[in-house]
Amino acid sequence: MKKKITFAKHKKTSRNKMILVTGGAGYIGSHTVVELQEQGYDVIIVDDLSNSQINVIDNIRKITTKKTRFEQFNLADNTRTTKFFAENPIDAIIHFAAHKYVGESVKEPLRYYYNNFVSTLNILQAIEKHDIRHFVFSSSCTVYGQADSLPVTEQSPVKPAECPYGNTKQVIEEILQDICLAVAQLQVISLRYFNPIGAHASALIGELPVGVPQNLVPYITQTAIGKRDCLQVFGNDYNTTDGTCLRDYIHVVDLAKAHVVALDRMLNKKMKKNYEVFNIGTGKPSSVLEIIQSFEKASQMPLPYKFVERRKGDIEKIWADTTCANTVLGWKAEKTLDDMIRSAWNWEKALKENNK
Ligand code: UFG
Repeated sequence: MKKKITFAKHKKTSRNKMILVTGGAGYIGSHTVVELQEQGYDVIIVDDLSNSQINVIDNIRKITTKKTRFEQFNLADNTRTTKFFAENPIDAIIHFAAHKYVGESVKEPLRYYYNNFVSTLNILQAIEKHDIRHFVFSSSCTVYGQADSLPVTEQSPVKPAECPYGNTKQVIEEILQDICLAVAQLQVISLRYFNPIGAHASALIGELPVGVPQNLVPYITQTAIGKRDCLQVFGNDYNTTDGTCLRDYIHVVDLAKAHVVALDRMLNKKMKKNYEVFNIGTGKPSSVLEIIQSFEKASQMPLPYKFVERRKGDIEKIWADTTCANTVLGWKAEKTLDDMIRSAWNWEKALKENNK
């Protein structure tokens, strides 16, 4: 009998997809890097560390025990950006790197416009030159302003931006849509985030505000840990259940996972059009007082707070209709408000412990 000869199957050696995460040392970026690596993607971070710290990179490596490549430069530097793309084969980009504070953007509009636009345009030029086909953009619910009807869907009108920061998000979304109309092979997803809070379960990464926190939850945890005297609640005369503003708070890890799902959707060729936009929230509104109550439950201590005047530019209420993200993207937020607040408090306590 003739011996059957079998040939060893050719082993596929295609490398894992290489994902560039700009701003990957930042708050949402770092959590997204962890989720990407845990799903088998290779990651290279570019961050200028202007609003983040180098030890975040070490802590990402501790969580994932994977190789995390990192290069420090500002993507508004065209020479450096061009060199980076010439040296690194990139399959997809998740673009977080941007200045992000509403109040600061009103005081320094030129710095905001220059940084956020020029860095994005430099990346888009590199995308064109190197035929990179997948791009996820960090957008924001700020594009809806104070919506006329709630919850907001992706079809809700985009309102004139209240501040230069918000304007950069709107204009970059428009730029991306224009480029997608002209370049059929490019696939772009804009994720409109609601209010990300909380931290990774390891308490190795979380939000690291530089100076006095501008956002509610880091202000609460810093007050409780003794860094700040008292939380100021901006306004208690809004037309809401308890008079304080309503927001759709989302756990940063749930938000990070939405990026992985968006990337999978592109790479698995599931997109219906080459430009898509999704609201990324929980769909549930919470008031400032509900956040304080959740914090007091998690920490088992009272939080010193007082009501003060409304903050200029605050919108009264916003929350997401997440139907599109749930059904089309196949993503759903899993963590509760108490999970979010507990993880934020664990992170603040771990920071104190590490700084001893
Ligand atoms: N708040 C306080 N005291 C504080 C800080 C905040 O009462 O010290 C209140 C605000 O008035 C608001 C709520 O807490 O009612 C949430 O405020 P944040 O500053 O945490 O978040 P914002 O909703 O104002 O801003 C966030 C992001 C922006 C984004 C915006 C979109 O930080 O980047 O959502 O609506 F543009």
